[in-house]
Amino acid sequence: MSWQGIMDFKKRAQFVLVHALFVVCITANYGVCELKANKSATLSVDASSQSGRKIPDTLFGIFFEEINHAGAGGIWAELVSNRGFEAGGQNTPSDFSPWTIIGDETTVSVGTDRTSPFKRNPVALRVQSNCDADACPSTGVGVYNPGYWGMNLENGKGYKLIFHIKSLDSVDISVSLTNSDGSQTLATNNIVASASDVSDWTKVQFEFVPTGSATGGRLQFITRKKGVFWLDQVSLMPMDTYMGHGFRKDLLSMVADLKPRFLRFPGGCYVEGERLWNAFRWTAAVGPWEERPGHFGDVWNYWSDDGLGYFEFLQLAEDLGAAPVWVINNGVSHQDSVNTANIASWVKDALDSIEFARGSADSTWGSVRASMGHPEPFTLKYMAIGNEDCGKNYYTGNYLKFYSAIKNAYPDMNIITNCNALGTTLDHPADYYDFHTYTTASSMFSQKNVFNSAKRSGPKAFVSEYAVWQSDAGKGSLLASLAEAAFLIGLETNSDVVEMASYAPLFVNDNDRRWNPDAIVFNSSHVYGTPSYWMQQYFRESGGAILNPATIQSDSSSLAASAITWKSPDNLECLKIKIVNFGSDAVNLTISMSGLTNSIDTPNSFTTVLTSSNVMDENSFSNPTKVVPVQTPLTNANSQMHAVIQPHSITSFDMALAQTSYAADM
Ligand code: AHR
Repeated sequence: MSWQGIMDFKKRAQFVLVHALFVVCITANYGVCELKANKSATLSVDASSQSGRKIPDTLFGIFFEEINHAGAGGIWAELVSNRGFEAGGQNTPSDFSPWTIIGDETTVSVGTDRTSPFKRNPVALRVQSNCDADACPSTGVGVYNPGYWGMNLENGKGYKLIFHIKSLDSVDISVSLTNSDGSQTLATNNIVASASDVSDWTKVQFEFVPTGSATGGRLQFITRKKGVFWLDQVSLMPMDTYMGHGFRKDLLSMVADLKPRFLRFPGGCYVEGERLWNAFRWTAAVGPWEERPGHFGDVWNYWSDDGLGYFEFLQLAEDLGAAPVWVINNGVSHQDSVNTANIASWVKDALDSIEFARGSADSTWGSVRASMGHPEPFTLKYMAIGNEDCGKNYYTGNYLKFYSAIKNAYPDMNIITNCNALGTTLDHPADYYDFHTYTTASSMFSQKNVFNSAKRSGPKAFVSEYAVWQSDAGKGSLLASLAEAAFLIGLETNSDVVEMASYAPLFVNDNDRRWNPDAIVFNSSHVYGTPSYWMQQYFRESGGAILNPATIQSDSSSLAASAITWKSPDNLECLKIKIVNFGSDAVNLTISMSGLTNSIDTPNSFTTVLTSSNVMDENSFSNPTKVVPVQTPLTNANSQMHAVIQPHSITSFDMALAQTSYAADM
């Protein structure tokens, strides 16, 4: 059977089954249930088509922020950190770390100067070897780059190296991939050139195929020849990236598994900057990678070479089948604001960004996009004007300028305001209002009802950042995921007024935790999902599905439930019932379904449970599957079912409905 969602869960279930408790007892099937239920509940689901309501296609998506080295040293697969030597600033001498000198001060002198051939990023690295042949150490002298806390170099895989070099003399440089201390060479290439070949800046590129693996590897340039050479814009990319577009495959497959319907990018606070001069600027992050200056993100305090730029985000959204949501700075940072009287050039910059995404290939900015390999426009229909800036100086004035200029040129663009319209009426027009919530587990559980009282007309809510945090969450607890699941059930129920929602933050490189918790944790070679990541998989079919009325009657106040009907990719009619038990009592549940269009196809029906023995349990690199969903067959699927719902759990009942056959006699 090709029901992809089920197959994905099946594979995972095989993997984790040995670690898991058998958590749901279907009493009709097993007679005796091992778990004693102190509470009871009845869930009535009306699955008839006339009582359902369509959930917006966009309901659940992702929010990617350049935080925690999520992009640079994260999903962007570039292995060289500080590839243009600009991270130390454009005044020289500058700090060129993490590049590190091989040799000592008598044998080699290394520093930055402003000799780069690239105008917007003038800094290059000057390497002067003071020794020749046997006078040099046997290891040679030069520099190495350890990447972002070690490069993941894999035996037999291809890596494309590009660098720019200049020398006044002939050169004999060996360029190698090695293990962490350079003692083991995994791949090497000698660059031998006469002075006339390299007297001007010369681009060199070739492919490395390591003959061994290292998770903490490095790239090194060494010589045993006296003389001076300069390096600039050094890039090492794995050849095998997600859809060939430069993203780390292991990280992106986790994202793709969530089936996100939109991608909000590139921040968050990252968009604002502590100061405007350090905010993300899209024009500096498009075009040839060598010509991008990079910038220091002063909210999360690290340098980005901006290989992951505006184009790459649009490409990623397209590759994921997700609608791009472009968050643009409207002249407001954490600490400064552009007066509305002076905002016109910022508005023009926003219009240019739309032309870059949507303009024809012969428009000014569309032609830049086309030169980057995407002549067809991207589908950009959502823009957020700023992030968390409502109430700051000039926000509303600036917003209105952006709003009217964008709507005038692109009437179909959906515009998202930072001002919360829940329980109040906005003083400015908007298609969506941004809603962020970071809170305790019990408050998040209660917030499942927060949109019940929302006005049913006016701008729709975009819950672009939600998460349980602080002590209830640690680095990603089961407890947090339970409260968040209940909250999302509340969003499904209120999806007539809430059209989009995304967890935040999405990624953390474990070597640079700037924010806890996060959905996906990685280092250079490994990745795992927190319970909040796995929780989101329960909602991946919701966008575009039909929400069926689901009513709980119970002596427990710790439950939240919803039911949807949806079509699998191979056109099977499916019913999914989700129930969150936030409490510490097991619940004896009766599910009563009415209005089913067909009988339940038992072999294609499953129960999936996310729980653990301790509600504060987390996943980790050493135990990445401690808290993951476990799937078991639903052997007694019926319109009246009984199940014991585990304390502290998320349970789904996924049922395929039998297909009506009209062609049996043909
Ligand atoms: O998600 C982390 C941060 O939280 C975002 O940058 C910001 O929008 C919010 O305050």
